[in-house]
Amino acid sequence: MTEKLLDKEVLMNYVNGEWIEANETTDVINPATGESIIKVPLSSQEDVDQAVKAAKAAQKEWALVPAPMRAEVLFEVGRIMKEKKEHLSKLLTMENGKVLEEARGEVQEGIDMAYYMAGEGRRLFGQTTNAELKDKFAMSVRAPIGVVGLITPWNFPIAIATWKSFPAIVAGNAVVWKPATETPLMANELMKIFIEAGLPKGVLNVVFGSGGTVGDALVNHKDIRVISFTGSNDTGRRIAAKCGEQLKKVSLEMGGKNAVTVMDDADLELAAEGIVWSAFGTSGQRCTACSRVIVHEAVKEDLEQLILKKIKELKIGNGLHDDVKVGPIINKAGLEKIKSYIKIGKDEGAKLIAGGNELTGDEYAAGLYFEPTVFTDATIDMRISQEEIFGPVVSLIPVRSFEEAIEVNNSVEYGLSSSIFTRDVNKVFKAQRDLDTGIVYVNAGTTGAEIHLPFGGTKGTGNGHRDSGVQALDVFTEWKAVYVDYSGKLQRAQIDVE
Ligand code: UN1
Repeated sequence: MTEKLLDKEVLMNYVNGEWIEANETTDVINPATGESIIKVPLSSQEDVDQAVKAAKAAQKEWALVPAPMRAEVLFEVGRIMKEKKEHLSKLLTMENGKVLEEARGEVQEGIDMAYYMAGEGRRLFGQTTNAELKDKFAMSVRAPIGVVGLITPWNFPIAIATWKSFPAIVAGNAVVWKPATETPLMANELMKIFIEAGLPKGVLNVVFGSGGTVGDALVNHKDIRVISFTGSNDTGRRIAAKCGEQLKKVSLEMGGKNAVTVMDDADLELAAEGIVWSAFGTSGQRCTACSRVIVHEAVKEDLEQLILKKIKELKIGNGLHDDVKVGPIINKAGLEKIKSYIKIGKDEGAKLIAGGNELTGDEYAAGLYFEPTVFTDATIDMRISQEEIFGPVVSLIPVRSFEEAIEVNNSVEYGLSSSIFTRDVNKVFKAQRDLDTGIVYVNAGTTGAEIHLPFGGTKGTGNGHRDSGVQALDVFTEWKAVYVDYSGKLQRAQIDVE
C-alpha cells in the first residue's frame, strides 16, 4: 500500500516556486501500523525568512490580479482535488488514521471550500452608501492584508488548510503555511495541486517543522501581518500574546467541550446514534467532538443502554479497511493523555460503563488504539466534564430540567459546538438562543459543520474570529473606506452639511 501511494521518501518545503531540501528531517508515522511512511523537514528560522521574503515579493503582483482571475486558480484546484479525491483520501487515512469514509468526507470539505471561495472572487462584496455631503460618493472595499502565516493541525489536515488558505489567496494575500508535522502528506498534495492549477510562484509557500521553531518564527516575523491558527488552547494563548505585543491580527480556533443534550421527549434512538457518531468518529479527535452528554434523568438509563448497544457495533482498527468504524489515536502523547483522563474520571467518582482501555496485541500491537469509552453519573465540576480530552471518551451528566441542561452546557471554559435532541419547538428555539457556543445543532450530533457557514466558538474556544463561511474573509482582509468628492470644492465633513 505504502509503495503504491507514495512516490518519494522525503518531503520538501516549497518556497518561491521551488522544492527545497531540508537539512534535518523526522519520521511521519502511520498511527494505525506504527510504520514510518515518509520523512518531513524540520525547518529553521532561515527557511521561514526565505519563505516570507518570497511571499512578500509575490503578494504585490498577486493583489493586482483581478479577483475573478485569482479565483480561476481555486476553481482549478477544486477540479483537481475532485479528480484526485480517492488518492488524497487514502493518503489522509495513512497519515492521520481516520477511517477512509471520513477521509473522503474531509477531502470533500476541501473541494466544497475551493468552489465556494472561488465564487467569492466575483463577490468579495463591500458596501456603497451615501455621503453626508453633496456631490460626494462613499464606499467600503475589502483590501488584502499582505503576507499571512497559517498554522494548521493534524486532525483535519486538508479541510482546515483549505478553510484558511483559500480565502487568504482569493483575497489577494500571499501565504506562508506551517502544516502539522504529523500530517504533512496533505500539505504536500495540496501544494502540488496549486502548482498544477497555475498559482504564481511565491503566493503559497509551505515550510514544515516544529511549532517551537517554524511556528514561532512565523508569529514573530515582522512582515507577517496575520496569523491564523487552529490547535491547542495553550499554544493559541501564547500566540495571541505574542501577536498582541506586535499589534498583529490573529485568528484562533481552539478547543471544545461540546455537549449533546437529550431531553425527556427526544427520539432516543436518534440521539444515541448522533452521540456515538460525534463522540467516536475520528476517534473523538475533533474540536467539535461530543465529549459530554447532558441527559434528562427520566431517560438516562434508556439512553445509556442504546449507546452501549451501538458501541458494540463499532469495529476498531486500521481505517483503510472497509468494516472499521473507529481508527487509531494520532500519537503516543495523545494516547497517554486519554489514559490519564480515564484514571482522573475514576478517581473523581464517575462510573465507567464502557471501554477505558488501550487496545494491544494481535492487530492492535503496532498501532495506537483506544476503546470507545463512556462514563456516567458525572457531575459538571469533574475534570472529565470540563477539560478537553481529545479522544473517544464521553461523560454522561444527568440533569432534572431544560434550564439545568442549558446551565450545565454553558458551565465550561469552551464554546464551540452544542446540540439538543427534543421534539418541543419551544425548547428548540430557546436552546439555540441560550446555548453559548458558536455552533448549535438540533436533533443532530455536535459535528458536521458545512463550509459556507461560519466555523468557530465563543469564550475559550477562540478570539472572536471565524474560519470558513464568508466570515473567513474578515480575517484576511482589511476594510478600507473610500470617499470620492466630485463637487470640485472643499467640503468639510460634519461642518459643511447644510
Ligand atoms: C475540527 O475538529 O477542528 O464540523 C474541525 C466538523 C468538521 C470540522 C471539524 N466539519 O466536525
